[in-house]
Amino acid sequence: MIKKINAAKAALNEVKDDYIIGLGTGSTIAIFIELLGEKIKKEGIKIKAIPTSYQSSYLAIKNGIPLTSLEEYPEIDLAIDGADEIDKNLNLIKGGGAALTREKIIDSSAKKFIVIADDTKVVNKLGEKFPLPIEVIPIAWRKIEKILKSMGANVKLRDGGDRKDGPIITDNGNFILDAKFNFIENPKDLEIKIKMIPGVVEVGLFVDMAHIAYIGNEKGYYIIKKS
Ligand code: A5P
Repeated sequence: MIKKINAAKAALNEVKDDYIIGLGTGSTIAIFIELLGEKIKKEGIKIKAIPTSYQSSYLAIKNGIPLTSLEEYPEIDLAIDGADEIDKNLNLIKGGGAALTREKIIDSSAKKFIVIADDTKVVNKLGEKFPLPIEVIPIAWRKIEKILKSMGANVKLRDGGDRKDGPIITDNGNFILDAKFNFIENPKDLEIKIKMIPGVVEVGLFVDMAHIAYIGNEKGYYIIKKS
């Protein structure tokens, strides 16, 4: 928890008056949203936020953060988001919370995209620990599963967990396939290959998108910057 708090605190300084901000999804972002709500109250800054999920929308409203949309602001000042894996080139795996599609749309619309995460998320090569989340149109899932398997992945349809029988349904009404590749040697290449499969909505590979990552540890944080 302290690692996530340290990462979230570090990113708070990036928020300036009048900014339009993309809010990612996940437990680290949930901490950030709370801190942002406090900052708005204390400093009286005027910002508007665009959430990447129902979760972030709900949390933003709860913390007094005014919301807007990409329709009103197709280009935004800043996006702040979590990640499941981060490599040294700032390429990411995202989608552990099934919000990858909206996250990719909003994060890619920002002049500056900042990642906040604890230090357990940093890897040498993507795919090292985390499966690659892929959002798919429900009728296509078996066909896509078959193709991903032929590409060498171990594939699972993400389950709804304790409170939902059957697969989880994303905020966009789709399924998630988690594809475990051993190591992802060429993330851009793999992203393009998977996106070409009919029925794939989005792939949780965020390549060449992030500008800076604040990585929280026990003592504070360190930065990974695009080289
Ligand atoms: C949401 O779908 C994900 O992309 C999250 O941003 C990612 O899983 C990080 O979440 P945590 O901050 O909870 O680790």
